[in-house]
Amino acid sequence: MSAAPRHRVALLYGLLLFFCGGADGSEVPPPQNVTTKTLNTNYTLSWDWAPGAAGTHAVTFTTQYVPKHELNRKPPNWITACNQTSHRSCDLTRFKLLFLGNFMLRVRATVDGRHSEWAQKEFCPYEEAFIGPPDVTLHVTGTSLEVIIKDPVFKYSELREVYTSATYNITYWKSSPKEEVKKILQMRQDQVVLSNLDPMSEYCVQVQIIYDMNPRPGEYSDVVCERTGDVDAAPWVAAVVAFVVMAAVVALVVALVVYWTRISKFLCPEVVLPPHFKESLLPANPSIYPVSLPSEHCDQVSIIADHRTEEEEEEGGCSTQPDTSQEGG
Ligand SMILES: *[C@@H]1O[C@H](CO)[C@@H](O)[C@H](O)[C@H]1NC(C)=O
Ligand SMILES: *[C@@H]1O[C@H](CO)[C@@H](O)[C@H](O)[C@H]1NC(C)=O
Ligand SMILES: *[C@@H]1O[C@H](CO)[C@@H](O)[C@H](O)[C@H]1NC(C)=O
Ligand SMILES: *[C@@H]1O[C@H](CO)[C@@H](O)[C@H](O)[C@H]1NC(C)=O
Repeated sequence: MSAAPRHRVALLYGLLLFFCGGADGSEVPPPQNVTTKTLNTNYTLSWDWAPGAAGTHAVTFTTQYVPKHELNRKPPNWITACNQTSHRSCDLTRFKLLFLGNFMLRVRATVDGRHSEWAQKEFCPYEEAFIGPPDVTLHVTGTSLEVIIKDPVFKYSELREVYTSATYNITYWKSSPKEEVKKILQMRQDQVVLSNLDPMSEYCVQVQIIYDMNPRPGEYSDVVCERTGDVDAAPWVAAVVAFVVMAAVVALVVALVVYWTRISKFLCPEVVLPPHFKESLLPANPSIYPVSLPSEHCDQVSIIADHRTEEEEEEGGCSTQPDTSQEGG
């Protein structure tokens, strides 16, 4: 790459016109005003051609290109991009010309089998390429504004492959009331959160892609505006509420596990029998059970119907009290 400035377009068309033999003056004029249009790696060569020069005949154009260093070869290996087409332009996009390359383009007119001279133009994509505006969308969450940047569509590669050092110039300002704040960030991420903005205020954002090596600044995106929400609507409030509820649930579960024995005792108290009663109930000493007493000592046993309701029976719940329907003498 030569360091010499290349922003001056080298238009070489028509400089080397040779009148060969001077037939009948029907020399085919070469294309004029040869220009390249470049946008997001779409490279199109276009030109003018003297109207009416072909008379009643149809005119076609042939466009060729060659990497500039190949011009030293004899003959250079010109590659035909558009062969005898009638349009006044040729789309070179599909040839994926090297972004950092240097090319020579040429085009000539053909009328009735006769060719014009070639009109040439030097082409350096990285110097001429024009970056279109990015697409910007905003998402409001409370008093934060998320800026989502979508790169313009590049025809044969991603923005980051071509413009490896490109950055976003993000400008935002408060528009209501008035323009109070105006800040500029330069970042590579395509998602930026502008936080701690004033609540219930309209903010506007505009983004531009900047590339150091490209002398032309990228096109500005449309200005997009959004109104911030209320502080109460901020997501952290919901987050805090959710956290508190979760913590309470966890604490409750832990407490239940730790104090389970105490709680179960409280809910279902053990029946405390007098010690002598317990002794007499010990199965190790079956002789003292009333049932095993000699039958002659038994009093008459009267069975009385139990009139208690089920609820009454279930009262006192967990421990089953021995039913005392039998009366010993
Ligand atoms: C490139 O841009 C031209 C208009 O300038 C358009 O006609 C053409 O379709 C584009 N090429 C591609 C590959 O999109
Ligand atoms: C080339 O461009 C100039 C300036 O725009 C214009 O006057 C002239 O007519 C153009 N040539 C042709 C052949 O259209
Ligand atoms: C261009 O088209 C002509 C006829 O239309 C054909 O003879 C010639 O071979 C073509 N050249 C290329 C490079 O395709
Ligand atoms: C970024 O954009 C602002 C306008 O929105 C402009 O004033 C500033 O010069 C730009 N920054 C760069 C480094 O181009």
